[in-house]
Amino acid sequence: MDSARTRTSWWRDAVIYQVYLRSFADGNGDGTGDIAGLRRRLPHLAGLGVDALWITPWYPSPMADGGYDVADYRDIDPLFGTLDDAQALLDEVHGHGMRLIIDIVPNHTSTAHAWFRRALAEGPGSAARERYIFRPGRGPRGAEPPNDWRSVFGGSAWTRITEPDGSPGPWYLHLFAPEQPDLNWDDPQVRAEFESVLRFWFDRGVDGVRIDVAHGLVKAPGLPDLGSLDGKLLEGAHREDHPHWDREEVHEIFQGWRAVADTYDEPRVFVAEAWTGAPERLARYVRPDELHTAFNFDYLMTPWRPDRLRRVIDSSLSALGQVAAPATWVLSNHDVARHVSRYARPQPEGPLRSLSDLKGPADLDLGTRRARAAALLTLALPGSAYLYQGEELGLWEVEDLPEDLLQDPTWLRSGRTDRGRDGCRVPLPWQGDTPPFGFSPEGSRARTWLPQPEAWKSLTVAAEEGDPSSMLELYREALRVRRAEPALGDGTLAWESDPDSTLLVFRRAPGFRCVVNFSEEPAALPEHGTVLLASGPLHEGRLPSDTAVWLKD
Ligand code: NOJ
Repeated sequence: MDSARTRTSWWRDAVIYQVYLRSFADGNGDGTGDIAGLRRRLPHLAGLGVDALWITPWYPSPMADGGYDVADYRDIDPLFGTLDDAQALLDEVHGHGMRLIIDIVPNHTSTAHAWFRRALAEGPGSAARERYIFRPGRGPRGAEPPNDWRSVFGGSAWTRITEPDGSPGPWYLHLFAPEQPDLNWDDPQVRAEFESVLRFWFDRGVDGVRIDVAHGLVKAPGLPDLGSLDGKLLEGAHREDHPHWDREEVHEIFQGWRAVADTYDEPRVFVAEAWTGAPERLARYVRPDELHTAFNFDYLMTPWRPDRLRRVIDSSLSALGQVAAPATWVLSNHDVARHVSRYARPQPEGPLRSLSDLKGPADLDLGTRRARAAALLTLALPGSAYLYQGEELGLWEVEDLPEDLLQDPTWLRSGRTDRGRDGCRVPLPWQGDTPPFGFSPEGSRARTWLPQPEAWKSLTVAAEEGDPSSMLELYREALRVRRAEPALGDGTLAWESDPDSTLLVFRRAPGFRCVVNFSEEPAALPEHGTVLLASGPLHEGRLPSDTAVWLKD
């Protein structure tokens, strides 16, 4: 096998599988995924043919935001296992020839973190308080928040504390849930601490780090009001002087992190979660002395429309090419509605992230057909790709989770108007005809932390294995061909279709073409030697609607 671990700059064209740990596989029977479950299921990932895994946060956490509220960056939550389990996992991942990326959350800690507890206990003016962003309130008796910033999950971004002596105190900033106080990145101790945390994990052999909210660490001096600006992750960063998103000063922090990563024999790598406006802004995070890659959310949010997709592919490649960084391509993750469901409805003109951007009931057959074509399109593009667990099974968004089971803080913070992200976080189905579909070990009684739909019995790994028409076999074959084809992975592409055509055709050297048909009618294929792979059956040599094909000269 062409082991990913033997290649340099492996990250330039890696296929990286996102493990949302609490929903991947449960090893101890408590209904929540854990490291033991992941270890047991590693052969699935090795067999799928991915190069690396990215694991969502596994640290001790009260789980107010699925573990993105970290109480200790150097340990593992007992829900998931122990540090020894993490080390064993890492060794096994490496044994399979794969790499491991972990998730670091530097914008905020949990309120349960020792630093925040000390900040509360040690009172005004203490060094402990300097590590967070405390400010006096406005208005009579400081009863109003210090400014108009909004939490991404809804409501004000400020919460008022009570001092140890019982008197009303200042407010602290939390761009996310109140249980996630923002750190003060102007404080040298905060900077030193995170470089030390990086070393802690890199020393153990972790190959890379995904940086949560990379665009949010630095806030504008004086914390000015947003005014008419939007605080949302997406809209926020269109201007360069947004008070808390995508500020220029953030880059200096990541240059320091790069220096840490480069001290290792095989340099460790970074991928930024940075929601920025234009691709040129994203490219600033991946300049040669900074981070290696960043998620391409513009691609993720693009509707299933040929002109929009072509435009985002071109703008991504051009902006990232300017700084010699590879593009990443991502269709789904744990924060957005699964793409089978996004593509299952009439497609809007503008960006498409949540199902509320869409109208009408889902046609899941249509969504699945498009998702299959999207997989071939995505895996043929130059650069690296991220797969979100379950997309290889064709899982759809679970849109009807009972309200009393919803766990995403968005649900309550939005006043029960936004159901949040639980629908894409439902535990994976592995085998069998009824829930928990092998997610938990046989005989365990605990319910899965979110209920699985009965209909997933046809989408289990066992049901799809060996079925040539399944999503799983399509992904396996696509990843096998991608490894074998010299044209695929890092590099460039050349369009062969017209910009306004409903057929996307691009060429990659040597001798490879990807064709995707977005029209209602079957399309003739360009001249070719062999069909390497198709996302659905061809009809009399023609490419049906919403179908993609890989051709060899
Ligand atoms: C981005 C993560 O992907 C998301 O799940 C989390 O809620 C926020 N960052 C806050 O950490």
